Amino acid sequence: MEPPDPVAFVFGATGYVGRAVVEAAARTQGVGQVIAHARPGSSRGAALEAGVGGSILVDRTPLELSPLAHALEACRPSHLFICHGTTARRARREGLKAPYEAVDLGLTRLLLEAAAAVSPPPRVVYLSAIGASPRARGAYLRNRWLAEEAVRSSGLPFTICRAPLLGGPDRREPRPMETLARTVADPTLAVLGAVGFTKLRDRLSSMNAAEAAEGLVRSGFHYMTINRVVQSDELRRVGVYERERWTPESRRDTPRH
Ligand SMILES: NC(=O)c1ccc[n+]([C@@H]2O[C@H](COP(=O)([O-])OP(=O)(O)OC[C@H]3O[C@@H](n4cnc5c(N)ncnc54)[C@H](OP(=O)(O)O)[C@@H]3O)[C@@H](O)[C@H]2O)c1
Repeated sequence: MEPPDPVAFVFGATGYVGRAVVEAAARTQGVGQVIAHARPGSSRGAALEAGVGGSILVDRTPLELSPLAHALEACRPSHLFICHGTTARRARREGLKAPYEAVDLGLTRLLLEAAAAVSPPPRVVYLSAIGASPRARGAYLRNRWLAEEAVRSSGLPFTICRAPLLGGPDRREPRPMETLARTVADPTLAVLGAVGFTKLRDRLSSMNAAEAAEGLVRSGFHYMTINRVVQSDELRRVGVYERERWTPESRRDTPRH
């Protein structure tokens, strides 16, 4: 019997990258359905609902264990894209204390727990960030690392994608510090790339949502990236897995403390 068409379930689908992941997954050959999750209270959920159709469905299941587990068991996704996360500004607006622990890490753990009973187990494609490390100074990157660890130890097949700074003129929400960082860093990295530091340029230059989504979907569906960390330079390069020899898994994916 033919296996069923892949079904992609995208958490954080109202976000800058999540929304682009929904569209990139829907364009991917063979994908039967894309389910775009919007949290019930999301102000961006209505815009998401108005803008999608075809193979894309919007799901507004509450972010609680039992309803999420039922929703996932009902649609049995083959791929679970996890693209949510908060910012200090949004957390202040929502009155969240320890926001990265509660949202970036806590919600990832909740989604993994909800997905644990799905059969066959879905592949988790986790949008992480360059710099995620147990030694990271800031709470954001430390919690990203802990969320990566939760993904790695979940027992589910996974692909962790470490994105660089994400942004572009198409980001509706103003993020002045990120825009400033991109404006300064990208031209500098372009010059460094031109004089030979191509890996540095490819790893650190910013990406817009479409580029990141294309990389997430490509990596998430590729057999060579299963149970691996995909670094930002690999995320942006089409065909990288076929063309290049990867460092052995033991060195690539084992953190050096
Ligand atoms: N910005 C960067 O440079 C960068 C770089 C690397 C990785 N990342 C990571 O990539 C992720 C997505 O980035 P993005 O630019 O697409 O972010 P975004 O546009 O801010 O979208 C964030 C998503 O998370 C959801 N969310 C926010 N607060 C939540 C909460 N308290 N509970 C549940 N869901 C919540 C949002 O839902 P609503 O629409 O309902 O608010 C939205 O769907 C971020 O988490 C970030 O950590 C970002």
